[in-house]
Amino acid sequence: MLDRENELNAWDRDHFFHPSTHMGGHARGETPRRVIAGGEGCYITDTAGKRSLDAFAGLYCVNIGYGRTEVADAIAAQARELAYYHAYVGHGTEASITLARMIIERAPAHMSRVYFGLSGSDANETNIKLIWYYNNILGRPEKKKIISRWRGYHGSGVMTGSLTGLALFHAHFDLPRAPILHTEAPYYFRREDRTQTEEQFSAHCAAKLEEMILAEGPDTIAAFIGEPILGTGGIVPPPKGYWAAIQAVLKKYDILLVADEVVTGFGRLGSMFGSTHYGMEPDLITIAKGLTSAYAPLSGSIVSDRMWQVLVQGSDDFGPIGHGWTYSAHPICAAAGVANLKLIDDLNLVQNAGETGAYFRASLADALAGHTHVGEVRGDGLMAAVEFVEDRDDRRFFDPARKIGPAVAAALLDRGVIGRAMPQGDILGFAPPLCLTRAESDVVVDAAASAIKAVLG
Ligand SMILES: Cc1ncc(COP(=O)(O)O)c(C=O)c1O
Repeated sequence: MLDRENELNAWDRDHFFHPSTHMGGHARGETPRRVIAGGEGCYITDTAGKRSLDAFAGLYCVNIGYGRTEVADAIAAQARELAYYHAYVGHGTEASITLARMIIERAPAHMSRVYFGLSGSDANETNIKLIWYYNNILGRPEKKKIISRWRGYHGSGVMTGSLTGLALFHAHFDLPRAPILHTEAPYYFRREDRTQTEEQFSAHCAAKLEEMILAEGPDTIAAFIGEPILGTGGIVPPPKGYWAAIQAVLKKYDILLVADEVVTGFGRLGSMFGSTHYGMEPDLITIAKGLTSAYAPLSGSIVSDRMWQVLVQGSDDFGPIGHGWTYSAHPICAAAGVANLKLIDDLNLVQNAGETGAYFRASLADALAGHTHVGEVRGDGLMAAVEFVEDRDDRRFFDPARKIGPAVAAALLDRGVIGRAMPQGDILGFAPPLCLTRAESDVVVDAAASAIKAVLG
C-alpha cells in the first residue's frame, strides 16, 4: 500500500499539471499533496485512510453528496446503451431532451431554452457569443461591451477569465481583454464609506454602474453579468435592494442581464435558483456544478423567451447558428443530470439547504461571536464565510503575506473538516453538500471555532 502511495506521488509530481496550484512548490513536494480515493455523503477519504468532512462539496458542486448509486447507475446504464451521439443539426437523446425539459420546468417562468456545455467557463463563453449575436441580429453592432464586477468569478478562459474580477486570474495572462469592463463589487463589509446603510450602498453601486454606462455610451453596453451572491470573490450576499437598483439601471439602457448561477443553481440558497431568491429577471442564466452534482461534467446557458425570439430571427436571417461543441448535451452527462435533479427533489435538498443552512450560519455566528479577529460571518442558504481582520474596530485587514486564511483552512483540515481559503482576502468559505445534517453542521462549526482559536487565539 505504501509502495503504491509512493508510486502515485512520484507520478503526480512528475507528470500531472494541476489547476490553480503552485506549480514549483508542488513539483518540489513543498505543498500538500492528497490523493482522494472515495466518498460517501458529506465525507471523503484519501489513500492514506484519512477521512474529512467536505464542507466545500468539492468546489461547491457535489450537492447531493458523494457516493449516490442512483446517479452512478444512470451513468452506467447510459454508457451501455448509447455512450455518445452529438446534438448538432437537431439531434438529441432521450436523456438530453428530458434534462432540457426538467431544467426549464425548474427555471424562472420566463426562461425558454437550454444550450448545453461542459463547464461553467464554456457556458459563459457561449453567453458572450449569444449576446454579441443578439445585438448583431438587432442591427446594433456597436452594442458589445459587457460589464462584470470586481470580485465576480465567471471562469478562467480568455473571455470568461476577463469577466472574472480577481487579480490572480488576470495577472500575467494579459487579461482582461476588451470589451469587458468591471464595476464595483456589492461588498458591504468592505464599503469605502462606512456610514452608508445597506440600501445606500446598493444605491451607490447602481450609481457607479450608471456612471460607467454613461461614460462609455449606453449604445455600446450589451450586458451585465453577476452571480446572485458573490462566490469565489468572498461569499458575499447582495446588500439590501442591490438587485432591484441594478436592474432599474439595466432596463433604462436596454442592457441584458446574465445571472451566473453556476454555484447557486439547483438549490444552494434554499431556492431552486438564486435569481428567484433575489428577485432577478435575467435574460441568460449560467448553470453547471449543481446540475449533475459534478458526477459528470455538464453546464448550460438558459435563454429567456425574449432573447430566444431574437435568436430564432437570427437563424432565419443568417442560417444555422455557427456555435457548438462536440460534447454539447453529452448523453452520459445528461443522464447524470436527470438522475441528480430527481434526487434533489426526492431528498428535499432545496428545503434542507434553506433550513440546515440557516442553522449552520446561526451556529457559526454564535460560536465566533465577539472574536477579536472575526470581522464578519455572512452567507445565505448553504453558503457561508468568515472574514478575518487584524482590527475589528477600524476594520483593518491582515497583511496578505501572513496568509491567515490559508493557515485557518489548514488548521481546519487538521481537525478533519474541509473549508476553503477564498483567493482574495482572509476569508474562510463553506459550501457543504446540500444533504448536510445538523449533526454534521455541529462538527463543522466546532472544528472551525477550534481552528480559528489555534491560529488567531
Ligand atoms: C459563478 C461561477 N461561474 C463560472 C465558474 C466556472 O466554472 P468552471 O470551473 O466549471 O469552468 C465558476 C467556478 O467556480 C463559478 O463559481
